[in-house]
Amino acid sequence: MDTDQNSDATEKKTVVPPSASAYLDPQYWDERFSNEEHYEWLKDYSHFRHLLQAHVKPNSSVLELGCGNSRLSEELYKDGITEITCIDLSAVAVQKMQERLRLKGYKEIKVVEADMLDLPFSDGCFDVVIEKGTMEVLFVNSGDPWNPRPETVSKVMAMLEGVHRVLKPDGIFLSISFGQPHFRRPIFNAPQFSWSVEWITFGDGFHYFFYILRKGRRSSNDEASNKRHEKPLMPSISMFHEELEGEDYIFRTNIDDMD
Ligand SMILES: C[S@@+](CC[C@H](N)C(=O)[O-])C[C@H]1O[C@@H](n2cnc3c(N)ncnc32)[C@H](O)[C@@H]1O
Repeated sequence: MDTDQNSDATEKKTVVPPSASAYLDPQYWDERFSNEEHYEWLKDYSHFRHLLQAHVKPNSSVLELGCGNSRLSEELYKDGITEITCIDLSAVAVQKMQERLRLKGYKEIKVVEADMLDLPFSDGCFDVVIEKGTMEVLFVNSGDPWNPRPETVSKVMAMLEGVHRVLKPDGIFLSISFGQPHFRRPIFNAPQFSWSVEWITFGDGFHYFFYILRKGRRSSNDEASNKRHEKPLMPSISMFHEELEGEDYIFRTNIDDMD
């Protein structure tokens, strides 16, 4: 996590939990957001703006999953993407985000308390769904990353099935993540999904993944091209470990994952 982009997260030390399981507890997020005004997970908008702009047209209707106290929605708005709905499970995050956007004059952005595992939207109503670091929460305590626990898989599939359902027939799901393609690809490519799966890396030194899933565009070529990345591109890493490790940014690597 960069210190520069999170320099105003002054209460950060008081909200980092003792163990990663806390990230699965909605109460943890409420307490954290009560004490924290802004924190960007992974990278802030400036690092992937060029990638978003290549895929999101100004007139797109956008759903952001797990907005927390990120500035992603307001940065999109400033770039002319104004039809935005943000959701978060945390009532505190939602209330504070509504207030922040109201004070800044971004009144068109809707902020709704909702569970991404049970999206309260009708079928085919968004051009774009975006998540940044939110899907990662579902992988906390997932066990072996090559063979996640059934509870993890069923939550992730509930989320993805909801995303697929609320996307328009030619909609796009953008997932900004630490999750490496060898772990994400089998999930994204589950047979019930009609989307194609591509990714781009960004970031200096450490690479983050910008996944682009286009509904209705799945083809056998996607399978073939994805197979080129059967082996890990990077050591296994968890952003939650990164936060828990504190200021030293010690990444826990799994040497077995190395080529
Ligand atoms: C790791 S933070 C990412 C926040 C933000 N997207 C960012 O990039 O800074 C995860 C966010 O997801 C929210 N969250 C966790 N589980 C959720 C769920 N089932 N539905 C909706 N939001 C959820 C948390 O409250 C938190 O705001």
